[in-house]
Formats: sequence, structure tokens, C-alpha cells
Amino acid sequence: MSTAPANATPSDYAAVYRRSLEDPEGFWLEAAAAIDWIEPPTRALDDTAAPLYRWFPDARMNTAANCLDRHVAAGHGARTAIIYDSAVLGSVEHISYAELTERVARFAGMLRARGVGPGDRVVIYLPMTPEAHVAMLACARIGAVHSVVFGGFAARELAVRIDDARPKAIVTSSGGIEPSRRVEYLPAVAEAVALAEHTVGTVVVKAREGFATSLQDVRAGVGSGTQWLDWDEAVAQAEPADPVPVAATDPLYILYTSGTTGTPKGVVRDHGGHAVALAWTMANIYDVGPGQTMFTASDVGWVVGHSYIVYAPLLVGATTVLYEGKPVGTPDAGAFWRVAAQHSVRSLFTAPTALRAIRKTDPEGALAHEHDLSGLKTLFAAGERLDPETQGWIGDLLGVPVVDNWWQTETGWPIGANPVGLTALPVKTGSCTAPSPGYAVQILDGSGQPVEAGTEGNIALRLPLPPGTLTTLWGDDQRYIDSYLSAFEGYYATGDSGLIDEDGYLFVMGRTDDVINVAGHRLSTGALEQALATHPAVAECAVIGLADPLKGQRASGYVVLKSGVTVDGEAGAAALLDELRAAVRSTVGAVADFKQVAVVDALPKTRSGKILRKTMRQMADGEEHTVPSTIEDRSVLDALEPVLRAGR
Ligand code: COA
Ligand code: AMP
Repeated sequence: MSTAPANATPSDYAAVYRRSLEDPEGFWLEAAAAIDWIEPPTRALDDTAAPLYRWFPDARMNTAANCLDRHVAAGHGARTAIIYDSAVLGSVEHISYAELTERVARFAGMLRARGVGPGDRVVIYLPMTPEAHVAMLACARIGAVHSVVFGGFAARELAVRIDDARPKAIVTSSGGIEPSRRVEYLPAVAEAVALAEHTVGTVVVKAREGFATSLQDVRAGVGSGTQWLDWDEAVAQAEPADPVPVAATDPLYILYTSGTTGTPKGVVRDHGGHAVALAWTMANIYDVGPGQTMFTASDVGWVVGHSYIVYAPLLVGATTVLYEGKPVGTPDAGAFWRVAAQHSVRSLFTAPTALRAIRKTDPEGALAHEHDLSGLKTLFAAGERLDPETQGWIGDLLGVPVVDNWWQTETGWPIGANPVGLTALPVKTGSCTAPSPGYAVQILDGSGQPVEAGTEGNIALRLPLPPGTLTTLWGDDQRYIDSYLSAFEGYYATGDSGLIDEDGYLFVMGRTDDVINVAGHRLSTGALEQALATHPAVAECAVIGLADPLKGQRASGYVVLKSGVTVDGEAGAAALLDELRAAVRSTVGAVADFKQVAVVDALPKTRSGKILRKTMRQMADGEEHTVPSTIEDRSVLDALEPVLRAGR
């Protein structure tokens, strides 16, 4: 593995970066030495099916064995693998590598006994508890493909993912604990299983105290096609399973993410490339090694959670903090600082929106001063653009480097970051610093031509993408090609716009498509529109993302009613708006945080019928706006302007 020399300089980064592009074979084969292989790779890149690339085509390994067994075998079984810190329960549990290995092996044995084998899918719908690690690693151990669904998604979103992934089993629990309420998972899972066309063989349920719906309740209410099992009972009867060898190119997981349409995209990650890339990032970007502690305050349902709560820290024998709580309110805005101090955290990774929430509640950062944060070396932020004001505030407060890192569910690890583990480059506020090794980042204009330094354009990545990035979309190579590889010949289109300045610094400005980012959660306006359209009074609608000082963006909906629908006075109008909000909450989920919606007479469109969402957003945000010459009826936009401005 390439590790940072103690006295690395910017030119070392430049040399490493250059080598990664000029000699990807040598670079990634060298990085592959960080992984234990059953059959080691003799070559790195397989481009025979380009533009579908594969990494380490002749190698075999097991990801779970790399995360667990090898550390135990090396004598580190007593080292803490997971610190489960539940701010909502007020408890802390340390789980050693040896114990986690044992729990994973038993759960894997249980899944195997239920007929789950290599290549079979398992949907995981769990809160931030150690069962998430156990279930994910157990799948990896037996070569099954997990697909974790974030707990903030409603039954219908879960059902859509079940029908796409066609899992043999679902692993879930009684529910999650939000500061304001208990989120009951079992009714949602039962509804999703009933809604889905695909029949799920087994649902395994980890019982948690304090939830209204029990396994018995569900068993009584569902048909016989699916067996509902209690986690503890099922595991008690299971034989532990050994790790099975899989091809490095076999799928490890599917993670659904929002595209521009309402149908989520199943991003597929492989075993070998993923393990190699993540291990490389721990040393060279996140600066965390064996026995050191990383606290990633995300959720296992998102890619940041997959990579840096679960896989990467365990791959390198580090300790990962699994934090069940919020940045504020559990119990206060000092929660992250308490966790960082109590568990001697070296690298803390969170989303800018969480930092803004902390700042809003504790503007002077008084609560941070109550804790000894001398062990904290770096703060990492990702999930959305790190605004300069927040970056400055948190940097001054903590007195440590604040590293903005830009990536996507699709890439699995940063496309751009300050590689502080390798060499800390000088910071430019508003920039995520430099392209990571392996990523050939180009800014292209609309016709695919490279633009000059300092000019904003589409951020594209020259193919092949490095190891650890998506290999395809689940079951649909063509959709992968159409969605990402067709806009610019020879490139992966990120869907983000930005620029590279004269010094090679990368600035990411925002999406070029209809994907929005609410509190670090990626949402499709198409999915929100579909949800609004389920209301019987809605003829058509548009959802746009507006700038929000806390959450980065918030969704705002505009609805045209069917002719003949009448609304009875103010009370009737208010009731209708509540129903529309409820439609989104019950279809997409609470995570959409959909509150802003207005009834309008008409939506502005081009002559070919395309709704002018960008112009609407620019108007609503008070930005300079362009009105396309193809607009069908300018008066519709003029009439809408006061409504858009009122929503600001
Ligand atoms: N399961 C069920 N519901 C969830 C959930 C989960 N895992 N996560 C959030 N929700 C619900 C919340 O309870 C809330 O419901 P409500 O409308 O009944 O109150 C709704 O979804 C919106 O939640 P959230 O976006 O968390 O907003 P908030 O106002 O409660 O909190 C922040 C604001 C900034 C503190 C919070 O959004 C946050 O911590 N964001 C960081 C996100 C992050 O780390 N993303 C990972 C990217 S790397
Ligand atoms: P997700 O797939 O949920 O991780 O969301 C990926 C998208 O979030 C990216 O395409 C960006 O639009 C945005 N994003 C994530 N991290 C950053 C960042 N550091 N700076 C700017 N935008 C970001």
C-alpha cells in the first residue's frame, strides 16, 4: 500500500497522482498489497468489455475475511472493532474484532441455512446498531449481495428496491429511534413485502425494546409466502460459516441512489476493487491506521456509511464509531465533541449540514470547549458543498484541518479531496482541493470539449474509473451506459458542475440535473413529483430544490389542480396542502422533509412541454434567471413569480 512519507510535499502528491494515471497497473497492483488475497491479482485492469471495466479480474478474496478474520489471526482479536455509542439510549458498547467475527460468522451461518448463497441478494433495513455491521459483513462472508435501505425511506421506496434487487431475505429490526419519536420498521417492512411483486423468502427481525409492533403482531397479519424469524432465536441455532472465496469482480453490494427519474439506480460495487481502493484512502486521505479511531457521523444507509462506518475502518484494522444520534438534540450540540473526546477519535467525518446545525445551536462553540479534543487530527466533510463560512467557523473552533471531500454513491470514495494522509496540500476555501489518484477529472462544455482553467462546466471523469467505483447498475448495463457514459464519449458524467483553477484546484458548484440534496440526503425531484401526483386532485406538478441556510437545499412543490376540483375556503386549502405533504411522506418517506408546497394555476413550459424547473429555481432563489426562447407562454412564468419569491 502507498503510505505517506513523514515529510511528504505537494510534489509528492503530484507524483503519486501522475503515476496513478500513467501507470494504473503498477499503481493499483502495489495498492493491492494491502489486501489478503486467496488468489492474488496478476493484473489490475480488464478493459476487454469497455466501457464496462473490471478490476483485478483473475483474483479471489473475501471482503469479510479482510475486515475481520485476518486481524484476529494476526493477534488483534482483542482490539476494539466497533464502539457503538447510542446517544438516544445513553449507552456505549465496545465490540472486539474477535467478538464481531464470531457474531458475523453465526449470522452468516444462519443466512446460509435459510438458503442464502453466493450471488443471492439480501435487503438490509436497519437503524444505526451493530446488527447493521453484522448483517452486511455476514453477506460478504458467504458471497451474498447486500442492499441496505436507509430507515428514513417509506414502505413504497422499500418495495421498489425489493422488486429491483429480488432478495431472498430481508434483515430488519423493530425500529429506529429518532429524537422526537420511535420509527416503527415492522409495519413498513410488512407493507413493502406485500406491495412488492417479488416474494421474499425470509425476514429476520432483531427485536428492540420500546416498540409498538412485535414480530408476533406481524406474523399474525401476513400471508404464508414469507417466513418471519426472530434474529436471536435463528442465530442461536446456527452453525458459524467460514468466509467463501469470491472473484474480486463479484458484486459485494447494491446501493440504490436517486437519479433524475423516480426509479432509483442500483449502484453495484465489487469486492476486490472496493477493498483495495478503500484501504488506500484510509492511509492516504483519512489518515487512519490500525488501532486508531474513526468517527463517521453518517448512516449505514448512505454510501458514506457503507465506506467509512463499516468497510474501510475494518479493512485496515482500525476502530469505527457507530453513533446512533444526531448532531444536535441528543442531548445537545456538544454530542459530536463528547463522542470524539470520549473515544479518542482521530478523524471525524460528517456532513456540512450537521456542522451548520451545531453552529446554529451553539454559535460560539462553547460545548466544544468542554471536551478534550487534543486527539482529533482532522475533520472531514462531504455529502454536499462545504460552504466557506461553515468551513472557516469549524476550522477556527477546532484548530484542525477541515477537509472537504467530494464524491458520490457511484464512486464509493472521494473523487476530490485534500489527501492529508499522503500530504496536506494548502487549502483554498470553497474547493475540495485536488483530484484523487486514479480520477482523471476534466471540465467539459456542453458539446464535450475541455474548457479553460477557471471556466465552469460539466465535471467528467475520463474512463476507466479507478477501482472501488461502480461497475454497473444492478441488472442493467445499458442503463448504466445511458445514464453516465453517453453524454461525453470516453467519460463518466458526474452530474455535477464545477471548475478547475490555474493551480489545479477543483471547485464543485452543484448538480446539472434534477437531483437535489436536502441535509446531505440525495433526493430525486422526479420521485417527489411522482408522490405528489398520487393525490387525486393533482393534474400536474413540479418540485425544485431551493437554497436553505441549514439543510443546503429544501424541496419546494408547485401543484396544478385537475379542472373541476374545488377547494373550500382557507381551511380546505390548508387541508389540501397537508394531504399533499402527507402523500410525499408516506410515499418517499420522512427523510424528504417535504413541507413547502403551493397550488398554482399553471406551470411554465417550453413549447415541447418541458417544465422550466431551472428558471423557476433561479427566480425563487432570487438569482439572475434566463428564460429560454422556447417558452410556450411567458405570462405563466410572470404569474408564478410572486409565488416563487414568496417561498424564499
Ligand atoms: N429513520 C427514520 N426517520 C428518519 C431518519 C431515519 N434514519 N433520519 C431522519 N429521519 C426523519 C426525521 O425524524 C425527520 O422526521 P420528522 O419530519 O418527523 O421530524 C425527517 O426524517 C427529516 O430529518 P432530518 O433531515 O434529519 O432533519 P432534522 O431537522 O430532524 O435534522 C440535521 C437536521 C441537520 C440535524 C440532520 O438532517 C442531520 O444530521 N443531517 C446530517 C445528515 C448526514 O449525515 N448525511 C450523510 C451524508 S454524508
Ligand atoms: P450521494 O450520492 O448521496 O453521496 O450524493 C452525491 C452528490 O452530493 C454529488 O454528486 C454532489 O452533488 C453532492 N456532494 C457530495 N459531496 C460534495 C462536496 N464535498 N462538495 C460538493 N458537492 C458534494
